[in-house]
Amino acid sequence: MSKFAEKYGPWAVVTGASAGIGTEYALRIAERGVNVVLVARRRDRLEELASTIEDMYRVKARVAPADLTSRDIVEVLQPAIADLDVGLLVNCAGMGTTGPFLDQDPGIQEAMLNLNCRAPALLTHELAQGMRERGRGGVIVVSSLSGFCAARGMTNYNATKAYDLIFAEGLASELKAHGVDVQAMCPGGTYTEFQRVAGLEPKNFGPLQRLMFTTPTAVVAMSLATLGGRVTVVQGWMNRLLVISMKLMPRRISTWVFGAFMERFSAGH
Ligand SMILES: NC(=O)c1ccc[n+]([C@@H]2O[C@H](COP(=O)([O-])OP(=O)(O)OC[C@H]3O[C@@H](n4cnc5c(N)ncnc54)[C@H](OP(=O)(O)O)[C@@H]3O)[C@@H](O)[C@H]2O)c1
Repeated sequence: MSKFAEKYGPWAVVTGASAGIGTEYALRIAERGVNVVLVARRRDRLEELASTIEDMYRVKARVAPADLTSRDIVEVLQPAIADLDVGLLVNCAGMGTTGPFLDQDPGIQEAMLNLNCRAPALLTHELAQGMRERGRGGVIVVSSLSGFCAARGMTNYNATKAYDLIFAEGLASELKAHGVDVQAMCPGGTYTEFQRVAGLEPKNFGPLQRLMFTTPTAVVAMSLATLGGRVTVVQGWMNRLLVISMKLMPRRISTWVFGAFMERFSAGH
């Protein structure tokens, strides 16, 4: 058994496993010998991934189709997880929107709060109990570079990702003594379905796109390699530079600069 499986096995729950960064987490965790529960809404994608995982790696994969914006998410997931020892939870499912907050559909903004903040909090509360009892385990909360700074046009999304960042950092400090590793994973631009859903267009960065964007492979490789070491993980030197500059600038100025930056990135630009 790999060291990773000893510490974070025998089962991992990965939300957002039907696409992008979540799919990559599921594959790389399974590759390390940990069985996976795959959570998202699109059952067909989850079933296809589960069968790929079981063909490629000697682990089991279970699908748990669920809408994580629903009120009773823990109850909905119970049948898929109740009989398992979950040693790793990856809270990856998320969505974004762009445009002035007051022009947004309030129902979609509420769904984003539920998906990006409420779901990670409740799933962590449920699944990390067993980890604390066993004295080992891990929780990854996928935040974002956007969690470090406000930006006009992405007001609520950035606030949800700031929640994820602060939630993970606090939890890491609470659970360290119990042998549970918590990580706030903060990707920058990553090629996934996220941009289409959020109304962002990587091409608007022109030549900078190559410096600003990366793949889910790079994000997840860094996340899993640093789990148990660093708590707050920012992928990519350009993104780390941006975080440092956001921290050095007065907040009024960093909010203006990051807002202008993200405006350039929006599809309607
Ligand atoms: N891509 C980026 O540039 C970027 C940058 C920084 C941070 N992030 C963060 O990375 C995380 C993963 O995003 P991604 O880039 O991989 O995006 P993605 O390709 O759009 O994947 C999003 C995942 O979330 C799931 N999801 C969406 N709504 C859901 C719901 N109501 N219930 C259950 N699952 C739901 C989707 O599955 P279904 O549609 O099948 O439900 C999908 O599996 C997000 O938290 C995002 O904020 C992304």
